[in-house]
Amino acid sequence: MSQFDYIKEIAKYGLENDQEHLLKVINEFISYSRKTKKTNFALQLQSILKEGLRSQHTKGLTKTGSTKYFIKEDDREINELIIEKLTSDYSFDNLVCSEEIKTDLEYFVKEHHGIEVLNKFDLPVSNKLLFYGPSGCGKTLASYVLAGELDKMMYVVNLGAIVSSKLGETSKNLAKLFKRATHEDCIIFLDEFDSLGKVRDYSQDHGEMKRVVNTILQLFDYLPQNSLIIAATNQMNMLDDALLRRFDLKVNLDLPTKQQIKELIEKTIEKTQFRFKTTKELNEVVALSQGMSYYLVQKSILTAIKRTLFNNDKTSSNSFLIDTTILKELLKREKQAESTF
Ligand SMILES: Nc1ncnc2c1ncn2[C@@H]1O[C@H](COP(=O)(O)OP(=O)(O)O)[C@@H](O)[C@H]1O
Ligand SMILES: [Mg+2]
Repeated sequence: MSQFDYIKEIAKYGLENDQEHLLKVINEFISYSRKTKKTNFALQLQSILKEGLRSQHTKGLTKTGSTKYFIKEDDREINELIIEKLTSDYSFDNLVCSEEIKTDLEYFVKEHHGIEVLNKFDLPVSNKLLFYGPSGCGKTLASYVLAGELDKMMYVVNLGAIVSSKLGETSKNLAKLFKRATHEDCIIFLDEFDSLGKVRDYSQDHGEMKRVVNTILQLFDYLPQNSLIIAATNQMNMLDDALLRRFDLKVNLDLPTKQQIKELIEKTIEKTQFRFKTTKELNEVVALSQGMSYYLVQKSILTAIKRTLFNNDKTSSNSFLIDTTILKELLKREKQAESTF
């Protein structure tokens, strides 16, 4: 379905007062928006949905004061912090990065598989990891890879969404969330970790924000050994030393080198039947892609493949050769868009 189809369905079910279908379509639209990288829109829609449901609940017949009500209320507060609870089947194979980083991450995973060994020798377990680097270079992907490799459930928490909405509740809810994650043996993924630093610049309540940061520091300090926190930021400079020091491992996921671009291209086209006509063409594309993020390079290649596919005469022997004129044009445009941004 396209964006317009969702809107049409939402209008239809809304006017028909068909609550059940309406909720279903809105939820699907949220997932769709997330998949198509309209993260902010997805978040906004989600909070509209939650707000709507909440006011229905309070208007409804729920008996306030009953234990059942309190449990529900409790869950809802934590759920507000969680964008997604997921399992992943990504593995190291999906991530393009330097050998050093791969080794660091592999040891990180090994530590968790070997907690007992470490305990026996009274050695601390590394369980707080920070990914930093420009957008589109694999911070989220690397977190999914770790969740997959560790075979653990992951709570995705967007700090950007939390701090701007209900600051006053945040400390309390974060504490609850950590407790629950520990209890359920889940990874906590704190995306947009820099939001913690950012809010201090604005006119928001200074004291509240300090409290949130202190809560995080405490939660980090008393984190049980088998728990795991992964944080991600593309603005390291927003974070002060007290926060940064808490991490056992800080991993810089940077823009790809030429070699890494090649690897990404290979991995990207591997599953399609498409190939480059000559090594020379491939090298030209790699050269043009320099300075761009993994995400943008990959997106351009996939778009070029799709366009080649639609332009092709299926019977010709060239059908599965990527049209590099299209690809180069796309790359140039992305680069221009980046530089004017
Ligand atoms: N290092 C990488 N290796 C392979 N693919 C990558 C890498 N970085 C980004 N990608 C591709 O770009 C997409 C978006 O990257 P993402 O992890 O969301 O970036 P970030 O969280 O750093 O902004 C990924 O889902 C993946 O398809
Ligand atoms: Mg990300």
